[in-house]
Amino acid sequence: MKTQTFFGWMFSLAILFSLSLSSCTKEGPAGIAGKDGKDGEDGIDGQDGTATCITCHNNTQSLSVRTMQWENSMHATGGHISHNTGECAVCHTSQGYRGFLNGTYDPLASGAKIASPNPPNCYTCHKIHDTYTTADLELTKSGAIALFNTSESVDFGKGSLCASCHQGRTINPFPVIGGPDVTITSPYYTLHHGTQANLVTGLGLVNIGEGLAINNPHGSITDQCVSCHMAPGTGAESGGHTMKMRNASNGLNTASCIGCHTNASTLNTNVNNLQAQVSGLLEDLRVKLEDKGILAPNGNPKPGTYSPALTGAFLNYKAISEDGSRGVHNPGFTVKLLQNSIAAVND
Ligand code: HEC
Ligand code: HEC
Ligand code: HEC
Ligand code: HEC
Ligand code: HEC
Ligand code: HEC
Repeated sequence: MKTQTFFGWMFSLAILFSLSLSSCTKEGPAGIAGKDGKDGEDGIDGQDGTATCITCHNNTQSLSVRTMQWENSMHATGGHISHNTGECAVCHTSQGYRGFLNGTYDPLASGAKIASPNPPNCYTCHKIHDTYTTADLELTKSGAIALFNTSESVDFGKGSLCASCHQGRTINPFPVIGGPDVTITSPYYTLHHGTQANLVTGLGLVNIGEGLAINNPHGSITDQCVSCHMAPGTGAESGGHTMKMRNASNGLNTASCIGCHTNASTLNTNVNNLQAQVSGLLEDLRVKLEDKGILAPNGNPKPGTYSPALTGAFLNYKAISEDGSRGVHNPGFTVKLLQNSIAAVND
């Protein structure tokens, strides 16, 4: 017991002594450096900053072929981007169209104008560089499109994009058959130059007379306009992003037709016959409208007050001329509407 206490005491004393000794001794020189530790594991690679860019900007030439075709389209060459104010800018400029869709361009605001306008181009129809992924090739407009001058909407699939610009503008006042006479004051009292969506659907025109409930055999074609106008064509002359139906030698691009019209030569004859018939009817109607005094020789309406049927016949004449397909967009309906309009002017 005693010995244990004694040794315990001596041990504590020895520790105390060594502590007090070390605290007043200076440190010796540093020892030799130890061996290097093991390398750490490699971290995960960061994402390549250009990986998503390459999905489009690659060497497949898929962008350049579209660019070349687009350069030959009327979207690029038409030259009407000077119509860059108010409502005109929504269809005639790229920035006006995108701005109208996302709410940054108000065509009705006073002084509304797009500076440095671009014509319809890649950025008008595709969501280029919105997210820098392949999703950017999606179209800027899809789903149903409300047509002016009617309460109807149409969904053309991918063709809804086209129809949003290629449709008649608002007519005020719009003639009602059997309704009051119409007073025209403006030389621009027409449905405008791009009436294709109206002819395809038969909507927003002045339906004069009976027998117009005619089914359009081309009305239910998937993606509508896109199917025929963007089918593979001749180089940069027709089809694809040229959106043209005829090549430089005036040959019709029948790539989209032959699934239904199996004989290309019969088809060409039928197209020629239909277009000749429609051109003939348009000419008859033009002469009669000039005789009645509503149509001026320069193609504009003469200001004045006219019956709704005469006003309607005039609007139909302009709309079918401006459609440009001379019947192909809606064969039976176009012919019947022209015949009815001619009959109405004769009355
Ligand atoms: C969805 C496809 C797509 C993706 C993804 C994409 N681009 Fe583009 N890019 C285009 C198209 C289409 C154009 C317009 C081509 C033209 O005007 O001829 C373009 C144009 C450009 C231009 C020319 C200048 C301009 O703005 O007109 C540059 C530079 C460019 N892209 C860089 C990039 C970079 C960098 C990325 C990735 C961070 C990228 N792009 C991702 C499709 C794409
Ligand atoms: C942003 C509005 C807009 C969109 C969207 C649009 N277009 Fe156009 N398109 C125009 C304008 C404006 C012109 C006339 C250009 C000019 O004269 O400056 C035109 C001209 C054309 C022409 C030539 C017309 C002629 O008289 O020879 C064709 C064909 C055409 N577009 C087809 C299409 C098709 C098919 C689509 C859909 C894939 C489409 N467009 C989408 C505005 C548009
Ligand atoms: C709803 C869309 C839309 C609006 C709004 C619009 N345009 Fe157009 N415009 C078109 C389209 C589409 C074409 C091409 C039609 C074609 O060639 O088949 C066109 C063609 C034209 C042409 C060329 C006609 C020709 O025969 O070469 C002129 C000029 C024109 N527009 C002026 C105007 C003016 C001025 C305004 C505004 C007051 C206006 N547009 C508003 C869609 C529109
Ligand atoms: C007037 C509208 C319009 C313009 C202008 C336009 N495109 Fe397109 N583009 C379309 C439509 C509609 C399609 C879909 C065609 C189809 O499905 O057959 C398309 C398809 C494409 C595709 C194929 C997409 C895919 O998913 O395979 C590419 C690539 C493309 N466009 C690039 C361009 C480039 C580059 C430009 C400019 C030089 C351009 N587009 C201008 C309407 C347009
Ligand atoms: C059944 C195929 C078909 C469909 C669907 C179609 N088109 Fe056409 N389109 C034609 C043909 C064929 C012509 C006449 C071309 C010619 O004779 O030069 C034409 C003419 C035109 C023209 C006159 C300028 C030109 O290129 O000759 C425009 C603009 C046009 N179409 C736009 C449209 C739009 C916009 C749509 C959708 C609303 C549409 N088309 C739907 C086949 C079609
Ligand atoms: C979805 C099938 C389909 C497609 C695609 C199609 N057509 Fe038609 N087309 C028809 C049908 C059905 C008729 C009505 C035939 C009848 O009444 O005997 C018709 C009628 C016509 C007519 C009236 C004369 C006739 O043959 O009765 C012309 C012209 C015409 N099509 C041209 C074209 C052109 C040009 C294209 C391509 C740019 C085209 N069609 C694409 C189904 C189609």
